Amino acid sequence: MKPVRKAVLPVAGLGTRVLPGSKIVPKELLNVVDRPILSYVVAEGRAAGIEHFVFVTGRGKGAIEDYFDHHIELEAQLQAKGKTSLLAEIVGELPRPGEMSFVRQMQPHGLGHAVWCARDIVGDEPFAVMLPDVLMTGPVSPLRQAIDAYQAVGGNIIVVEACPEGEAHKYGVVALESATGRRNKMTGMVEKPPKGTEPSNLSISGRYVLQPEIFAILADQERGAGNEIQLTDAMARLMKTQDFHALEYEGVTYDCGDKLGLLRANVAMALQRDDLGPVRDALLDLLK
Ligand code: G1P
Repeated sequence: MKPVRKAVLPVAGLGTRVLPGSKIVPKELLNVVDRPILSYVVAEGRAAGIEHFVFVTGRGKGAIEDYFDHHIELEAQLQAKGKTSLLAEIVGELPRPGEMSFVRQMQPHGLGHAVWCARDIVGDEPFAVMLPDVLMTGPVSPLRQAIDAYQAVGGNIIVVEACPEGEAHKYGVVALESATGRRNKMTGMVEKPPKGTEPSNLSISGRYVLQPEIFAILADQERGAGNEIQLTDAMARLMKTQDFHALEYEGVTYDCGDKLGLLRANVAMALQRDDLGPVRDALLDLLK
């Protein structure tokens, strides 16, 4: 079984749900406490053993490349002022040379099209997809949980979670052969099912392990929900020849592409920070 070494992060989206901030700052770089959403997602990928990150970017997203590069003046200033732990933190998350690639999605044709743009960089090996505005936490890196599932059963893995009642039409939704435990074989999936037609209450969360055959399918994938080329539709076609398992992961998801999700993520991540201890009670009050 080939290992999962690469992760594709589609970062070209406009972020219309978190405007006006995302007009100038890529939504993936909006802060959760004191670091961009993307910083958490890349850390999750590294904790899962990912060796190479492929960002599918677009117009106005250049700051993402800059975030993952040296900032010579800033580093010199921090050094001169003796702020060594902050300096170590900033330098510590920089990529090793060659660990990141950036490819441009020149037109917003949808998630399926974005993933397809990474085909030449991924090549002929299984890979992960991480939706970068979805911050996922857990006792073990959520992507690690997906890769562990892949190592156990092979094929393709989709991380799912129980969706609040009445919300499934906003997501991709999976159908299972039978539901026993957290990992189950799938029989189908549908992107943004009309209300009342959902095959289950399990929505696609934003972490996937996919086989490279998905690229040939994406190449001629017709437009689906929202008139976009949907990854879910291409995966449903691949499922005719390959196994797909849904994994209900252990952890919590924050949809940071959404105002309320971003706010929840800020409060939840602040609560996990030792250095923010004194604000704990105030934050807990906020969550009531
Ligand atoms: C995308 C996927 C969908 C998934 C969702 C998770 O939708 O197409 O299957 O459930 O992310 O956030 P989008 O949020 O781009 O509409």
